[in-house]
Amino acid sequence: MKNIILLGAPGAGKGTQAVLIAKEYGVPQISTGDILRRNIQDGTPLGKEAKSYIDKGALVPDEVVIGIVDARLKEEDCRNGYILDGFPRTIAQAEALDKIAKIDLAVNIEVDFDVIVRRLAGRRVCVCGASYHTDTLNGSTVCAKCGKELIVRDDDRPETVQNRLKVYSEQTAPLIDYYKKQGKLANIVSNNIIEDTFAKVKKVLE
Ligand code: AP5
Repeated sequence: MKNIILLGAPGAGKGTQAVLIAKEYGVPQISTGDILRRNIQDGTPLGKEAKSYIDKGALVPDEVVIGIVDARLKEEDCRNGYILDGFPRTIAQAEALDKIAKIDLAVNIEVDFDVIVRRLAGRRVCVCGASYHTDTLNGSTVCAKCGKELIVRDDDRPETVQNRLKVYSEQTAPLIDYYKKQGKLANIVSNNIIEDTFAKVKKVLE
């Protein structure tokens, strides 16, 4: 397994696919969103700073997330490859990443914005990190993994989602061209079910 980036708008399914890839290929999933949310839960200074940005649907400052990723990539379990989920998100982050790591492939998951809005409206998450959609929960309100009550992510409120999509278009979408120019882009169009996307992801990884 190589060093992989998952690109895509909020709700495109990066986290969902990253979990499946990590399981299939035995590499760590590094999600800056998950790391920031854990810090918010734990009430750390980083979490307090991050919350003010995340709640508005804005990006956390580059230097903060670059520092997080730099430290994480130095850990032992990243030696044989990893999946970056939600990083980089700006050109400055991508340039910083090029200085600290060798990226082999950037997989862009392309999903129509109207599909994304539906997905985020139905997302339910657990404090253990598991993520679900109401369409497949069959009315259940608890986590299948740990039994805790599922909640709606604060930044999945409709007005915040609109801002996240705007921020994505302005600051993150230019990364598609950035990796295309480096000859490292694999584009996957997927408005379809999770398994369909994963089949396409596996094809480009193999
Ligand atoms: P982050 O946690 O990275 O959020 P995001 O990019 O907005 O992505 P999401 O987690 O919302 O969506 P996803 O693409 O992972 O989709 P998922 O698989 O969950 O970041 C949150 C915030 O942290 C940012 O707004 C920012 O403030 C900050 N941040 C994080 N990284 C940063 C960085 N590098 N720089 C600066 N700030 C940063 O799927 C969504 C839903 O759809 C789920 O319910 C899922 O079950 C369902 N679903 C998924 N795939 C399918 C499918 N194929 N069919 C049907 N349903 C599906």
